[in-house]
Amino acid sequence: MYRTPQEPVKATPLAVDLFSGSGSVSAALKAVGFRVAAALDIDPVAAQTYKANHPEVEFFQTDIRDLAAETLCNKLVGTPVQLLAVCAPCQPFSSQNRKRDNNDSRSMLLLEALRIINAVDPEIVWIENVPGLVNSDVSGQLIKGLKERGYHVSKPQKIDAANLSVPQRRIRFMLVASKDQSIVDRFVAKVTIPKERTSVRQAFVGLSELKAGDRDLIDPLHFARQHAEITIKRLAAIPKNGGSRSALPEHLQLRCHSRLHSNSFPDVYGRMSWDSVAPTLTTGCSDVTRGRFAHPEQDRAISLREAARLQTFPDHYEFFGNHSQIAAQIGNAVPMKMAGEMFKILISPETAEW
Ligand SMILES: C[S@@+](CC[C@H](N)C(=O)[O-])C[C@H]1O[C@@H](n2cnc3c(N)ncnc32)[C@H](O)[C@@H]1O
Repeated sequence: MYRTPQEPVKATPLAVDLFSGSGSVSAALKAVGFRVAAALDIDPVAAQTYKANHPEVEFFQTDIRDLAAETLCNKLVGTPVQLLAVCAPCQPFSSQNRKRDNNDSRSMLLLEALRIINAVDPEIVWIENVPGLVNSDVSGQLIKGLKERGYHVSKPQKIDAANLSVPQRRIRFMLVASKDQSIVDRFVAKVTIPKERTSVRQAFVGLSELKAGDRDLIDPLHFARQHAEITIKRLAAIPKNGGSRSALPEHLQLRCHSRLHSNSFPDVYGRMSWDSVAPTLTTGCSDVTRGRFAHPEQDRAISLREAARLQTFPDHYEFFGNHSQIAAQIGNAVPMKMAGEMFKILISPETAEW
């Protein structure tokens, strides 16, 4: 591209991805023009996926509590970090965690980020978690810690991924802290502007039809898990396109569902709707007994490919691990599109290529 002599050459902004999982946040950062200098996660299988897709990034497969901040800083060789992404485990704050415990040691992992922030001194800190974090002590400690370090901190924003063109309802807590108040203001002003919706139908376009137990001949992630005969009978009796287990005739109802708890887990065995967004994917996203994870019209749970599409992973993204390990990586991820839309706001608009 032609550049006039007065135009300064823009340095590529640098980012660090804490609790990176399989790397969708890093992929989003790279897509909008960041260079990811380092990433960290404790999970060895997610680490394998991460390294296959982001071989150029310095990856620390470790418990964050064991990482000396200087070790990280040494890898950054004095280059200023523009953005630190922090997606600590959300289970301690999740409404789906029925055994929520304030003393869960995982809730303190988020505060480890403050130790890293002290050393790395990023211009922007981007924090993603579940809405339950807002009312926790940890959130208060985090915001206080950021302010003490000279950051302007946004009010916690509750954002639905579906409003950022992700084909999934996924409400998340987002917090942005920056040394520059105008970046915080820009984020808050722009992140809530809804974008065009993407439906399940649009997300699944081009994927082959499968029966339970079938595999697509080309796409290794597009296979339908085998179901027991009774499960297939139940699925066949659930109305296509958004039906629920409440439609099951008595002889097909699960005993645990038909007794006292008829309202418990209403989504279990439910089908997704073609022209709506999918429900929030979890680590059990390809198991019909763990949520509304049945295909809109085929009698089976969604495949890992369909789950990955609902999380906006591109088809070329490589995954490692067995079926449940891949489902966990997909279900844990921040949808790439959601993260990308936010990073586009945070990066200087001229640099964004997304
Ligand atoms: C919500 S997921 C992160 C999702 C990730 N950003 C993505 O988009 O895929 C939380 C991650 O924290 C990691 N984790 C849990 N405990 C950890 C610890 N003590 N140290 C480092 N990573 C940890 C998990 O392995 C998991 O990948």
